[in-house]
Amino acid sequence: MLFQRVKPLDKILETAEKKSLKRQLGAFQLTMLGIGAIIGTGIFVLTAEAGQKAGPGMMFAFVIAAIVCALAALAYSELASMVPVSGSAYTYTYGVMGEALAWTVGWALVLEYAVAAGAVSVGWSGYMNGLLEGTAFELPRALKTGPMDGGAFNVLAFGIALVVTGLLVIGTSKSAKVNAILVLIKVAALTAFVAVTVPSVDRTNFEPFFPTGWGSPLGGVGVLGAAASIFFAYVGFDAVSTAAEETKNPNRNIPIGLIGSLLVCTIFYMLVSYGAVGAIGAQPMLDAAGLAIHPGTPEMAAACAANNPDALVCSKEPLAHVLKEMNHGTLGYMVGLAAALALPSVILMMIYGQTRIFFTMSRDGLLPEVLSKVHPKYHTPHVVTIITGIFVALFAAMFPVGILADISNSGTLFAFMAVAAGVLILRKREPNRPRPFRTPMVWLVCPLAIAGCLLLFLNLSMGTLAMFFGWAIFGLIVYALYGYRNSDLARGIKGPEGGPKIDPEPPFHEGPQA
Ligand code: ALA
Repeated sequence: MLFQRVKPLDKILETAEKKSLKRQLGAFQLTMLGIGAIIGTGIFVLTAEAGQKAGPGMMFAFVIAAIVCALAALAYSELASMVPVSGSAYTYTYGVMGEALAWTVGWALVLEYAVAAGAVSVGWSGYMNGLLEGTAFELPRALKTGPMDGGAFNVLAFGIALVVTGLLVIGTSKSAKVNAILVLIKVAALTAFVAVTVPSVDRTNFEPFFPTGWGSPLGGVGVLGAAASIFFAYVGFDAVSTAAEETKNPNRNIPIGLIGSLLVCTIFYMLVSYGAVGAIGAQPMLDAAGLAIHPGTPEMAAACAANNPDALVCSKEPLAHVLKEMNHGTLGYMVGLAAALALPSVILMMIYGQTRIFFTMSRDGLLPEVLSKVHPKYHTPHVVTIITGIFVALFAAMFPVGILADISNSGTLFAFMAVAAGVLILRKREPNRPRPFRTPMVWLVCPLAIAGCLLLFLNLSMGTLAMFFGWAIFGLIVYALYGYRNSDLARGIKGPEGGPKIDPEPPFHEGPQA
């Protein structure tokens, strides 16, 4: 019965067509938007976590995660070009697999966006603390990290999340120009890093190459465990699809934006990880039994303090750290500055994406209408933005970056699996519907995308998966108590027979021009 509550795709499209979000983004801007959302904490910070999980073998982790993302992006592109509306995976699932699954995907996307925003905030704080070190503004240790990471309250991560939330409430949507500048800064920092480290690569730093092996399901370490974590570095390309309603000629531009941005980032990540490992090595901290300690745990903080605080795997600002270790202190400082300048825009994208998804869910009646309230003066969905921002700030203050990133990945991987399955179902159910972008070799690519996401999902740690399923169960309870009765489809407000409900106002006065 629930699976019959499918929102017809034509109705979804009609709703989108009647809405007045300005279509202003082109292929280049979308690619820039993608790169702007993708390059962030993953490469700047989680390189250390990946090293702790896999040692030099993390380079394979970058490749595996890139392949999974490329497959998922091909699936995403088909749905994003067919249904170029807000809400990404949530909306697609609503149109293909029905309300209950759409709710579950939307709920999982909270992990993807809100928890990711927390992770990036923590990543930013690592670089900021690095910049402040030795100055009059250096914070006491207790305020540099959360309780699991040897501190008490990560004050900078908390603060940046609130500042970004404030900016979103007063209607800051990044201008294309600002985004282009930030992308340039990030790309320049990574290019400088590669230019300095790659020529100094020392082959002995790659030995042993696989100190922790490939890893095993639920283990959360080894090359596959690292791939499951470093997947975070690629997340964000789907932000391109959430901008579909603001895109000119989405049928052509969305696939270009998605795949183009992913490609550029993959090339950079390969080079950066090769340079980082080759320059100073990346051997993990092992416990007494010779097993890799889980990053982001008190044991890890203790092992670093006792053994080698200068190891790559212990750094909270690994790229800057590598350069400092190589006696390129000034360049290390500049790379730190680049991260500090550019990461807030990733946080902004993530919180923005989250509010957009909540907005769409509330528009569909699955969440209370108050969440889609628009501020009379700023024309922003301030209620949902403030609620989201407070939660993001609290996660960021309390949890280590790796744990937040892993939890975020669990939600993202789940959503990607749903999208790839949706593509296949739709090919069967509506073979003649126009598909401006067709996933090539769909019966190979989509099953492989699902298998790849599942492989990474299962290689997250047991604790992460427990959080994921706990969150999913909580979500289903919320659905049973609220959405099941109140959704527009349940109440027959808009459905197969009813016309689309038009937004009285466009939700945002400006699209995510980013
Ligand atoms: N890919 C984004 C980052 O690494 C989420 O920060």
